[in-house]
Amino acid sequence: MEKVTPTSSRKADHIRINLEEDVRSGLTTGLEQYRFIHRALPEIDLEAVDLSQDLFGRKLKAPILISSMTGGTPEAGAINRTLAQAAQACGVAMGLGSQRAAIEKPELSHTFQVRSFAPDILLFANLGAIQLNYGYGLAECQRAVDMVEADALILHFNALQEALQPEGNTRFAGLLEKVEQICKRLPVPVIAKEVGWGFSKKDITGLVQAGVAAIDVAGAGGTSWSQVEMHRAADETQARLAAAFIDWGIPTAEAVQTARGGASGVKIFASGGLRSGVDIAKCIALGACLGGMASPYLKAAVQSVEKTVEVITEFRREIQVTMFAAGAANLTELQATPLMKD
Ligand SMILES: Cc1cc2nc3c(=O)[nH]c(=O)nc-3n(C[C@H](O)[C@H](O)[C@H](O)COP(=O)(O)O)c2cc1C
Repeated sequence: MEKVTPTSSRKADHIRINLEEDVRSGLTTGLEQYRFIHRALPEIDLEAVDLSQDLFGRKLKAPILISSMTGGTPEAGAINRTLAQAAQACGVAMGLGSQRAAIEKPELSHTFQVRSFAPDILLFANLGAIQLNYGYGLAECQRAVDMVEADALILHFNALQEALQPEGNTRFAGLLEKVEQICKRLPVPVIAKEVGWGFSKKDITGLVQAGVAAIDVAGAGGTSWSQVEMHRAADETQARLAAAFIDWGIPTAEAVQTARGGASGVKIFASGGLRSGVDIAKCIALGACLGGMASPYLKAAVQSVEKTVEVITEFRREIQVTMFAAGAANLTELQATPLMKD
């Protein structure tokens, strides 16, 4: 039997709550305020619209990312394997959930190891950046990457979530300098990612100076981690504290544009509340190169690989039809396509 650590039981709570409860942010992504200009004469063939790109040494067939979610329990391992098989079948990118559980208990590593199911995908390892203030360093980052044969490392920033957990790690002072050391020394690219509240202009400037290769804005408008923590709270006081933050964060549309303004030379990934291929296409027009989703793929992955492939394929087709009807023949043209704001 696998021993259940506090980290892995927290992960089991996260899956259950995300599947069973309404954990949506009180905010919207802001993407509903933007529209493409319809082209009655796109002057391109639908089937010739090219959704592919090269990123961090891998070829992607669509600008789609299965956002970092899970690992550390047998159920999470099964979800990761399902997601990986679907990602391989569709040629899209995938992030693993925080690997802290497996750094602490290497016998849990197999719940994150999906490379054999997805030999060709762009795959991201994942650790909480805050762990760098609690004893982790280059060695743990390298172990996380090696453990899963990842192409890059995501460091996630979840200050508010940690503040809402009774067991949270909240000593954030001096963190940026440690992130900079990892960016300098880790041989693979480092991606800075929020978890659903976005990065401010000041955060982005700091992270770009620290040397991150990409920023996943993970803005507000989708899964709200304060709502997840509210459902996990052990008492009323803790639940009320978490509930106060239902409307917190920088909506995804704003976060992407802030990143575009401050992150020249750095790739931008959009995520946080994206729920359609049209949403992904809008984010690319606003400056991103990829659109990530978590919750929709979790709900599909607990059903089957086939269901997950079906969901990804639908999003892919929506992106393609959006590009066609907006007159963008490829992702470079989509990035240069203006949007109207209501
Ligand atoms: C069950 C679950 C677990 C998650 N665990 C992690 C994690 O370990 N590391 C991380 O960077 N983000 C994690 N996230 C956050 C997502 O990657 C994403 O940023 C956030 O859920 C917003 O996307 P969404 O609105 O499409 O769900 C998790 C999300 C879900 C639903």
